[in-house]
Amino acid sequence: MSDVYTTAYGLSAGLAVITFLLAIGPAVSVSGLVLRKNIKSLNLRIWLNIILLGLIAILGILRLSFLAQLGVNGFELIPVNFALGFLFTLVPLLAALGLTVPMLLKLRQPRQSTGPTPLADQTRTALAAPRLVVPVQALLVGSLLGTVITAASTSQLLTLLAGAALLAFTGWQWFRQTRLQQKIKQNGPTASPLFVVRLGWRLVTLLIFIMGFLGIFLVGTATTKLPGSYNMTMDETHSASMTMAPGQKMVSVTDLTGPKDGAPDKIFTLTAQRAQVQLDSGQLVDAWTFNGQLPGPELRVKQGDLVQVTLNNKDVTEGVTLHWHGVDVPNAEDGVAGLTQDAVMPGQAFVYRFRASDAGTYWYHSHQFSNEQMRMGLFGAFIVEPQKPLPANTADLTVIAHTWATPSGSRFAFGLSTTGRKAVTPGSEVRLRLINANNSLVSFTLTGTAFQVAAIDGTDLKKPGDLSNIRLPLAAGGRYDLHFVMPDHPVLLNSGSADLLLSADGKGDMSPLVAGSDFNPAIYGQPTGETLNLQSHFDQEYTFNLGTGLGFYNGSFSSLWLINDQAFPNTPAINVKKGDLIKITFVNRSPADHPMHPHGHKMLVLSRDGQAVKGSPWWTDTLNIGPGEIITVALKADNPGLWMDHCHNLDHAASGMVMHLMYNNVMTPFLVGPTSGNKPE
Ligand code: C2O
Ligand code: CU
Repeated sequence: MSDVYTTAYGLSAGLAVITFLLAIGPAVSVSGLVLRKNIKSLNLRIWLNIILLGLIAILGILRLSFLAQLGVNGFELIPVNFALGFLFTLVPLLAALGLTVPMLLKLRQPRQSTGPTPLADQTRTALAAPRLVVPVQALLVGSLLGTVITAASTSQLLTLLAGAALLAFTGWQWFRQTRLQQKIKQNGPTASPLFVVRLGWRLVTLLIFIMGFLGIFLVGTATTKLPGSYNMTMDETHSASMTMAPGQKMVSVTDLTGPKDGAPDKIFTLTAQRAQVQLDSGQLVDAWTFNGQLPGPELRVKQGDLVQVTLNNKDVTEGVTLHWHGVDVPNAEDGVAGLTQDAVMPGQAFVYRFRASDAGTYWYHSHQFSNEQMRMGLFGAFIVEPQKPLPANTADLTVIAHTWATPSGSRFAFGLSTTGRKAVTPGSEVRLRLINANNSLVSFTLTGTAFQVAAIDGTDLKKPGDLSNIRLPLAAGGRYDLHFVMPDHPVLLNSGSADLLLSADGKGDMSPLVAGSDFNPAIYGQPTGETLNLQSHFDQEYTFNLGTGLGFYNGSFSSLWLINDQAFPNTPAINVKKGDLIKITFVNRSPADHPMHPHGHKMLVLSRDGQAVKGSPWWTDTLNIGPGEIITVALKADNPGLWMDHCHNLDHAASGMVMHLMYNNVMTPFLVGPTSGNKPE
């Protein structure tokens, strides 16, 4: 379904451009009909224009059908700018079909057998009629504006301006054409304007358009520059809806720490430092590491442990932090630069303390310039072993999928290896913890054994059934724990160019299966006593449309990733008070995956594309919403603080796809922006 949506999306946008290019023909040619020398050449032009307009009409019908295709699973999946952009073509097109085409048909001249016949005065006057000429000119301008609107992020101002421009242009052309027609009528055919004059007018029109675009560009770059430093939560959404219960006190993020006292059960030190590390395929990676390792050291703790991690920064100039992805830590330990702490600069340190209450597979990464720092290697696995230990004969293995930048191009690997080999005794239980530290969806296959998905994002599933011949698409930032009993032959985990082979002696070769279908967590495992569902009483409901478009952001023109047509910090916020039960619907009306990740909270998936989730409850902290998908989740506001909620394709996050989950009585003293030194995305 994602593919269908992506294709229809691309074709809708592509047809907008093609329509504009085709519309140049009639716009230029119809207004020049009055200058045709003889009947033969007039008839030829008339047919040419009718054919072109017919073609444009066919493209219009196609475009409409692609728009309808985008909306088959919900009207709300049609991007508003696509519909508006189409309207800008449709209205002038209908005018051209209703006015220009019938008149063209009428103006065809009977064929003369004796040589070229000049046009009659009457014909010439008719050829200058506004209702013949202006619709095709409006079609050209309308389809150009329609293309701009289709490509741009939805802006009401832009649409209004464009609408006004189209009306003004049409009116002005009508006026000019009327005058021209009168002149021709009074003075005869000689009065048809000189080529130079006509060209001059066209240039003037073009110039006005160029100036208009230039103006928009200048205003756009000048007005969207974000301040040098600002409070991430002091956007209007937050302040406007800040209502506190009587007696409620304002607290600072810095007060919402983990246990201050008590001897930690586990102590770690992570030092951010530059290092060169080699992949098993030979390439050197110029990396930013924790403790010189790539990925950073795997931290293993026991459920219930009080964990203490000291972060040092040796030489990562921009500063670093540690975010515990998927672990519901107290807010001050969440490691978001500019929201919960200042970035830790070279020579500085920061101590994180929290209790690891939920067993499962998690990971940590820097949340300062996270897009860049993740790419460079500042991340590692964080494993919370269950209180009740896994069986003694368990091979507990972690696989972190990541794409490394090497001098010879990017390399996708599991950890540092593209061809991993591991000895596992047949008969032992295998727990394979898959972590996606990539910016995009990673699809795994497991060949050689049936297996179960034992946990999603750290939460164990109830009675997960056996799977085989299936693809496991894992959200960027997400985790799957796979379980199986090691057979007496090899087993192969594969994704693209990377694989990990498990066998009795750690040797061997095997090719990956070509998987049939995608794993669907919505219909997997057995229901528990979970009572939360679509019918539950929710204190608040939100709908977030995930979209894309070109636009101005922080003073430059680029492609943006948007929530409800806005880029951060103008994105909406989820404003809650402790105890609220929130229902969130994500509508992905873009051609890309968006792995949405709220910090400090888990989401329970309630429905996917209109189907209620059956099977084991699907708890997640990083939920992939594919192109054209609609997914509804429940979120319980039980961890006070100020939390990021963003797309874990960190390119998208850096281009606007960030919002906040904010408790009404929490404030932050930290700032983001270039002069503050903090940049969480
Ligand atoms: Cu791994 Cu803000 O995320
Ligand atoms: Cu995204």
